[in-house]
Amino acid sequence: SLAGLDLKAEIDRLRKERNAIILAHYYQKPEIQDLADFVGDSLELSRKAAETDADVIAFCGVRFMAETAKILSPEKIVVLPDMDAGCSLEDSCPPDKFREFRQQHPDHIALTYINCSTEVKALSDVIVTSSSAETILQQIPEDQPIIFGPDKHLGGYLARKFNRDMLLWPGVCIVHEKFSETELVKLKAEHPDAPIAAHPECPSYIIDHADMVGSTSAILKFAKETDADTVIIATEPHIIHQMEKAVPEKTFIGAPGADGNCNCNICPYMALNTLEKLYLALRDLEPRIEIEEELRLEAKKSLDRMMEMSA
Ligand code: 13P
Ligand code: SF4
Repeated sequence: SLAGLDLKAEIDRLRKERNAIILAHYYQKPEIQDLADFVGDSLELSRKAAETDADVIAFCGVRFMAETAKILSPEKIVVLPDMDAGCSLEDSCPPDKFREFRQQHPDHIALTYINCSTEVKALSDVIVTSSSAETILQQIPEDQPIIFGPDKHLGGYLARKFNRDMLLWPGVCIVHEKFSETELVKLKAEHPDAPIAAHPECPSYIIDHADMVGSTSAILKFAKETDADTVIIATEPHIIHQMEKAVPEKTFIGAPGADGNCNCNICPYMALNTLEKLYLALRDLEPRIEIEEELRLEAKKSLDRMMEMSA
């Protein structure tokens, strides 16, 4: 039994013993963010995973992130505290359906959001994250037709911003989909001077109210740098932990769902990781990410292009 164990001390001991690095996404529980060696957005976490000289990567995020770490660092043991930590965007895009979609549009290249399976990465030309998508899109010739998947909101946002037609896969993030425009407008009326920072996974009716749109790391930077003393945050609310640590004198309010608060916008997949499961993952080196080598090399091509084009 784990009762009576000092989990934080045990995780620390195992991290040293195993020469492990603990990587955490901003959507993880505060206690996980606080003991991680590095906390970041999807692109930063991929870079860290590619660079680290640790023997073990304990990935506190969702499965596609841990798989990305394994694709980029195959010689390392990559553990994910809960193997059920998936993503609604990945679920929306089965590889066989995506292959058919590509076959129907042979002249299109596939620009694909990193929130997808390894199989879908292998079927794609270039991977993007929310912090690299704009830079990468601008490097693709104007006359080159594009398929963008699996997030229709991020794709739609990019298409509008750069006035560029793209064929969109109809996937959504169930977390960002839950924000309520009515409740956001009410909240804004109560805090008229508070800017709204939104993630591009939000539907356009939320983005239209935003003063700033960007990845988790861009939203965090905005929160730190803005002159406003109150900021409304339209992304998964666990990132507010980093904001409160960095600028405790400011107030951060999570954008509401239909019930008027931000608790319904917690990512249920990210929330599966706990300190207990992280401890067990470091102790047992399980559950482990394994990817068949041929598939890994195919998926690595599109990820390497992202790394080159976002450098
Ligand atoms: P970023 O941290 O890259 O902005 O991604 C957000 C997200 O939803 C990850 O699942
Ligand atoms: Fe997927 Fe949305 Fe959760 Fe990110 S927040 S892992 S996109 S379901």
